[in-house]
Amino acid sequence: MSAQTATKVETATAVPRILGERAPKVTARNVDIYYGEKHAIKSLSVDIPDRAVSAFIGPSGCGKSTFLRSINRMNDTIPSCRVTGDIKVDNKDIYARDLDVVHLRARVGMVFQKPNPFPKSIYENVAYGPRIHGTASGKADMDDIVERSLRRASLWDEVKDRLNSPGTGLSGGQQQRLCIARAIAVNPEVILMDEPCSALDPIATARIEELIDELKQNYCIVIVTHSMQQAARVSQLTAFFHLGILVEVGDTDDIFTKPKDKRTQDYITGRFG
Ligand SMILES: Nc1ncnc2c1ncn2[C@@H]1O[C@H](COP(=O)(O)OP(=O)(O)OP(=O)(O)O)[C@@H](O)[C@H]1O
Ligand SMILES: [Mg+2]
Repeated sequence: MSAQTATKVETATAVPRILGERAPKVTARNVDIYYGEKHAIKSLSVDIPDRAVSAFIGPSGCGKSTFLRSINRMNDTIPSCRVTGDIKVDNKDIYARDLDVVHLRARVGMVFQKPNPFPKSIYENVAYGPRIHGTASGKADMDDIVERSLRRASLWDEVKDRLNSPGTGLSGGQQQRLCIARAIAVNPEVILMDEPCSALDPIATARIEELIDELKQNYCIVIVTHSMQQAARVSQLTAFFHLGILVEVGDTDDIFTKPKDKRTQDYITGRFG
């Protein structure tokens, strides 16, 4: 830790250093999320930095996916789910009545636990989003978007000779990178990843982690993970959830070396969860 950042911590009122350096991309204030009677997220407030990786950790069922999905309104697809409070991206209310949800989901992309390429060619998987959103100005432009997205997802070299083969024919790790390329193709600003490596072997996991590390130069990335090592390796901010409550959030180094809350301490040292 540099002398400069150390001073910042002392003066700040528990604002993580990573946030002290930049405006938050996503802010949540007093967010409650219910599934019918079930109160899954309780009065949650958090700031999520841009151009950095934030990790959500915590035991199964504590609400990580629920909160993650609320950031691009994927919860809208669950009829019993109700979200109250404020969630803003770039200081704009994403639950505003006149907000276009399709547009929001292009800005706030999502990568799921199980790689889920469409039953289409590799090319079409990546071209799908730009086509719906009309962002390509012709075939050459679309080819360019597809190539660029696959390169950024560090998959291009492996698939450039078989762009017309089905995406489902790739290995699990390649499929997950294809899903990342698909998310990137529409030029998102935020990428939400819900346990993106849990179906992958250690080598494929390492590649995705490298990729996440590169992508953070350009995107706000939020990753849910059950792996403490992964959170420590890839994230700069860590948020620990327990029973629907955001117990503690801070710079990843601090959360893993000097957590303030006993529940965080117990979780990261493997005492529960
Ligand atoms: N579609 C749903 N309908 C009803 N309850 C749900 C639904 N999805 C989640 N829940 C409940 O909300 C709570 C939080 O679930 P969530 O999936 O967000 O947890 P999680 O932290 O992502 O867990 P895991 O680590 O196992 O993925 C749990 O009690 C869960 O049973
Ligand atoms: Mg989950």
